[in-house]
Amino acid sequence: MILAVSLPLSTWRSGVYLIAIIGFVIALKGLSSPRHARQGNLVGAAAAILAVAITFTDPAVNHSARNLALALAAMALGAAIAVPAARMVKMTAMPQMVAIFNGVGGGAAALISVGELLHFHSVGVSPPTYEVVEALLGVLIGSVSFAGSAIAFAKLQELMATRPIVYPAQQPINAVVGAGVLALFLLAVVTGSVGWALGALGLSLVLGAIFVLPIGGADVPVLISLLNAFTGLAVAASGFTLGNNLLIVAGTLVGASGMLLTRLMSKAMGRSLPNILFSAFGAVVTATGAVEGEEGRSVRTSTPDDIGVLLAYARKVVIVPGYGLAVAQAQHVIKELADSLASRGVDVFYAIHPVAGRMPGHMNVLLAEANVPYDELKEMDEANPEMPTADVALVVGANDTVNPAADDTPGSPIYGMPIIHADQAQHVVFLKRSMRPGFAGIDNELLFDEKTVLLFGDAKDTLQKLVAAVAAA
Ligand code: TAP
Repeated sequence: MILAVSLPLSTWRSGVYLIAIIGFVIALKGLSSPRHARQGNLVGAAAAILAVAITFTDPAVNHSARNLALALAAMALGAAIAVPAARMVKMTAMPQMVAIFNGVGGGAAALISVGELLHFHSVGVSPPTYEVVEALLGVLIGSVSFAGSAIAFAKLQELMATRPIVYPAQQPINAVVGAGVLALFLLAVVTGSVGWALGALGLSLVLGAIFVLPIGGADVPVLISLLNAFTGLAVAASGFTLGNNLLIVAGTLVGASGMLLTRLMSKAMGRSLPNILFSAFGAVVTATGAVEGEEGRSVRTSTPDDIGVLLAYARKVVIVPGYGLAVAQAQHVIKELADSLASRGVDVFYAIHPVAGRMPGHMNVLLAEANVPYDELKEMDEANPEMPTADVALVVGANDTVNPAADDTPGSPIYGMPIIHADQAQHVVFLKRSMRPGFAGIDNELLFDEKTVLLFGDAKDTLQKLVAAVAAA
């Protein structure tokens, strides 16, 4: 006990950092399942508060009242902007919020590294080469992440064209700019000049922006996940620069989990990462004219009353939710429908595609908001074997994630993407507003299948009518 009390403050701080690091790891574990995600989030937030609080005992932070006041003022300003923004953001606008928060993180990491380089310069010391390399890596990766995230935000917020922006010799130009960044980086390391380092920062901002321009449409969320991994690496680099183990570990965790998420998302979309980053996917689709609906072909429509009877007397109904459920904010009414069917003895569950919606876990978060029990949600691999025994696949605002072109149309932009096999159910009912395609911009043959019927209208309105129809059946 006496030994513990007599330990220097820096040892205490390291101990608390270790506890915070363990908290981050537990948080990540919790976030990997919808059942524990909420607790994981709380553990992560508590660990972050602990880490930030203990940092104020560091003499480097509180060595002057001015520094302390500036740090507290920056935190207060950040909280005043971020808390209301996060509380008010619409579920469908979550990807752009993640993009902007991520960009700010990358920018902060870059500024910390710039500050450290300027510090070396102002005190006239020549630091060892590895310290300059660490600081410069923080500057480069953080700036690419900042500029890339800013463009991704502008695209998702529709402040600029969301489609891929392509121009002649785009990839060679990007390669030249990338080589320029590398050259400035080497010059800064060799000469130790802050001027070259600031030049590298400026060109990295340009690289971040032009790297993101040709990525558009449905690929932007994958890009954001990749930029998130970059921000983690920039934070880890600033951790090395400041000699702070907490930043090194936290940054590495963000970098590694961001990379894994990027891989999982590209796999779930049936695409390779280089294909997503360099193929200007949306541009190809638009160029082939595949977005246009097929003229002259008819689809079968029905009425909520008829579909209500079909559902009420089914044995098994599989609900396939998609982006349209989020747009319609129909999560509560869909639960009402599922509950009313279950109370009639119908076997009901939700089939969740890993990239349904516009962000990872979108459907899980949406349905959790309506308190849908987790055991009613089945992942795609678990749901697909049950599809042939389903009487009805009720597709609510989903399109690409049930499009059989992914299986049987080589050359289709989504060819190779695993899908939920709604087409194998006895009846398929689509709830959508029009014949417009999903995010990939391609027609869906399943809409024209003879076992498919469409209920046109906003999903929330249609579901409310279905609830009434089931009750009356
Ligand atoms: P989508 O294929 O985008 O289809 C959404 C459907 O919802 C459309 O058919 C749309 O048709 C309908 N809809 C929109 N608003 C509606 C409303 N208020 N009421 C009823 N229907 C409405 O959705 P999905 O199947 O979820 O596929 C997700 C797409 O996003 C995939 O292409 C995926 O690759 C991409 N993506 C997802 C992620 C993640 S992580 N989730 C990341 C990157 C890309 P109408 O306009 O006719 O109503």
